[in-house]
Amino acid sequence: MAIKKILRIGEQTLLNTAIAVTEFNTPALEALISDMFDTMAAADGAGLAAPQIGVGLRVVIFGVDANPRYPDVEPVPTTVLINPEITVLDDGLEEGWEGCLSVPGMRGLVPRYLAIRYRGMDQHGNIIDRKVDGFHARVVQHECDHLDGILYPQRIRDMRMFGFDDELAESGQPESFPES
Ligand code: NI
Repeated sequence: MAIKKILRIGEQTLLNTAIAVTEFNTPALEALISDMFDTMAAADGAGLAAPQIGVGLRVVIFGVDANPRYPDVEPVPTTVLINPEITVLDDGLEEGWEGCLSVPGMRGLVPRYLAIRYRGMDQHGNIIDRKVDGFHARVVQHECDHLDGILYPQRIRDMRMFGFDDELAESGQPESFPES
């Protein structure tokens, strides 16, 4: 159990496609997930993908408690999601502000699908199958993008809607929410 260094944009390994996990219930997988939770908590994040700590496996974690600092952010259950598959349920896109622990101090306006179904497994091999929308759907899409080497700036359609958190706040853009 340890807090790991979070790789930042520019680090080439963030651009790699991660590979599927084939063995569950192993000490190595438990150790990875434990490190990921420690690292996410230390960074006060909403989610983290294994490639962000330099591990090229298809593992993501996420979870958001209700927080008075982010009144518009709905709580998301704490989840370990391995080998995820996303199906789009509503192909309408919604623009929303995102930040990423690999792009610290910045945020951008990113289009995401409104509603998705995601399937995968937890670290014990139990199946996870959920239909979600809104912020929950956004977080999952953001995390799963990391497994395919995609960082959110690649999805921004209007680069004028990208910048440093404090500068955007000063120019009247809405309050940010946790990075992931
Ligand atoms: Ni991220």
